Amino acid sequence: MKTQLLDANKPEDIAAAGEILRGGGLVAIPTETVYGLAANALDGRSVEKIFLAKGRPQDNPLIVHISAFEEMAPLVKEIPEAAKHLAAAYWPGPLTMISEKSDIVPPQVSAGLDTVAVRFPSHPAAQAVIRAAGIPLAAPSANLSGKPSPTTAAHVLEDMDGKIEAVLDGGPCAVGVESTVITLAADPPRLLRPGGITLDQLRAVLGEVQVDPAVMNPLAAGEKASSPGMKYKHYSPKANVVIVDAPFEKYRDYVNAHNAPGTAALCYTGEDAALDVPAVCYGGESDYAAQARELFDALRRLDDDLGARTVYARCPEPKDVGLAVYNRLIRAAGFEVIHLG
Ligand code: TXA
Ligand code: MG
Repeated sequence: MKTQLLDANKPEDIAAAGEILRGGGLVAIPTETVYGLAANALDGRSVEKIFLAKGRPQDNPLIVHISAFEEMAPLVKEIPEAAKHLAAAYWPGPLTMISEKSDIVPPQVSAGLDTVAVRFPSHPAAQAVIRAAGIPLAAPSANLSGKPSPTTAAHVLEDMDGKIEAVLDGGPCAVGVESTVITLAADPPRLLRPGGITLDQLRAVLGEVQVDPAVMNPLAAGEKASSPGMKYKHYSPKANVVIVDAPFEKYRDYVNAHNAPGTAALCYTGEDAALDVPAVCYGGESDYAAQARELFDALRRLDDDLGARTVYARCPEPKDVGLAVYNRLIRAAGFEVIHLG
């Protein structure tokens, strides 16, 4: 298959994307978080193609994207009160809400669960494509399963060229990590995946919100994931990533003492000058938003530009948007952390 490159700034290209999606094809679309691999959410056969293109395990459910709050009602059994409050505060935006599904959501989307994840993205091109298609769109991140999520159209092509009908180029993604996922099917509501909407922002609206243990920790053997996606190895570059938990001076001394060929650093902006190994920077030390925006591109560059075998990484405190960065990086590192105190 030849993958068309479409331009999100051209109305005729938005229309073409809508046409492909209505016809049952796959289009990678920009959102404010990461690029999504979209298909008609109401048609199980179209949705199955997403799993094939990504190599995604069948038991990992997809998020359904809408272009207005009113489009949530047909997808769910009933709209939870909490969803109304969260939508008023944070939609459109990087927040996904899980609640009981209606019968029009096919089992391929929910992976057989009785719940559905719904998101109203803020990216104007994402909204325009959903409107052009005239249907809700199921869309996971548009990477091959296990690879870092794509934050540019070029990343999407690296993984999906020849496998999907089209990529709609809308430039780099502003948030850079996937949406915050909260389940409202639990009482109290529970954070399943941290993202651009922070835990404090959720608690400001809902009061009590629990944090699923899988946000910070690996699943214990035999433990059941509340969000199936959390049990898979994720965001992993080919390199072996190791988080070094230390103040900068100790990190620098450690890296410079372990500078064998094939070693690289994933550090904060400006720190690379003090390191004796090749480095990729991802945002300033206290700038969690920049870290989130740049992390996935940095992980890809460690492989593609540096061919790194071992990567010593700086990792933020698990607070605010730093929690989302921490959650992705600790998975990229397979939970391997060196504490230097
Ligand atoms: O920002 C995002 O959320 C991006 C863009 C494209 O919107 N999408 C995205 O989708 O990250 P994906 O499929 O890569 O991640 C969806 C996560 C997975 O961890 C999945 O297991 C979880 O949400 N999920 C989806 N539906 C669920 C459900 N009904 N119950 C529990 N977890 C669910
Ligand atoms: Mg994903």
